[in-house]
Amino acid sequence: MIILGIETSCDETAAAVVQKSGERITILSNVVASSASLQAKYGGVIPEQAAREQLKSIIPVISEAISYSRLAISKIDAIAVAFGPGLIGSLLVGVETAKTLSRVWNKPLIPVNHLLGHFYANWIGSIPTFPAIGLLISGGHTDLVLFKNHGQYEYLGGTRDDAAGECFDKCARLLNLPYPGGPSLAKLALQGDALRFKLPRPMINSNNYDFSFSGLKTAVSNLAYTSKSKCDLAASIEQAIVDVLITKTIRATQAFHIDQIMIAGGVAANEKLVADFKVEIKNLKLKINLHVPSANLCTDNAAMIATAAFFNYYPVEPVTLQSDPNLTLTP
Ligand code: KG4
Ligand code: ZN
Repeated sequence: MIILGIETSCDETAAAVVQKSGERITILSNVVASSASLQAKYGGVIPEQAAREQLKSIIPVISEAISYSRLAISKIDAIAVAFGPGLIGSLLVGVETAKTLSRVWNKPLIPVNHLLGHFYANWIGSIPTFPAIGLLISGGHTDLVLFKNHGQYEYLGGTRDDAAGECFDKCARLLNLPYPGGPSLAKLALQGDALRFKLPRPMINSNNYDFSFSGLKTAVSNLAYTSKSKCDLAASIEQAIVDVLITKTIRATQAFHIDQIMIAGGVAANEKLVADFKVEIKNLKLKINLHVPSANLCTDNAAMIATAAFFNYYPVEPVTLQSDPNLTLTP
């Protein structure tokens, strides 16, 4: 089966053609256009501007994805689209385009929750088995989920304020680092001493699976103006975020006796996080399989949307599909 995926929930415009044969997922094409240069200029995403850029690029991006796949349109079996959560103007571009193509090409239309889609980037690599603990860490979300099967999951907890990626971005801004903040801060942290600053690890010992990152940002704002060692501060920030994420995720695996962890979302591309996860699993002598998508599949893309659709194949009547900016992982 072959699915064309479409993703426009934030500032990226993405389309991918993905094939599933048996359990094997193959990406035939994966195109992502980003308005990153505009964001760098303004220090972040301006929703209306993002949607206007997406309107210009959606058709060229889809055409490119199909042409790179070297397939005729007749070979595509279905269209999958991320219908939420996200910026309403951005979502509308992808969803309305997908609805139109579904009608014109007479292909089934599969709506995909963008958050669930992030987890499915893991099925493009070392396939997780169920049950699995999923940690979604992106610019807008930090969620811990217990997956029992495809489409069957229990929400364990999430951030009460800032998301992990948002914390990276806001701290990077306080350090005057270029946009996007997460990768810039991670790069600077490579040269720094993570033990130099004692930063808070909010909620690390709380008896639940919730997170809070706004206090860390406040602590950093007090130091950022006076600190002369930016790289030590960057390393200390990264370590504080990583420590909380790892501690709570591993605690969930132990509480539910689970030996699979899959991480997803932009922050899953953080190399320190992955390295420390491996060290902690080894130190605790745990038999846990850690699944991490390749970096280009951690950040927003359409291959993950198409992949999620294979395993959650529920076509809808195109005219009935509405974008849902507030969609969550909770039932
Ligand atoms: O999943 P994503 O591309 O978009 C959302 O759905 O939000 O995640 C973007 C987030 C941003 O906050 C970005 O700074 C962060 O992921 N990010 C990173 C790294 N790469 C991306 N954070 C830390 N280290 C990285 N290497
Ligand atoms: Zn995302």
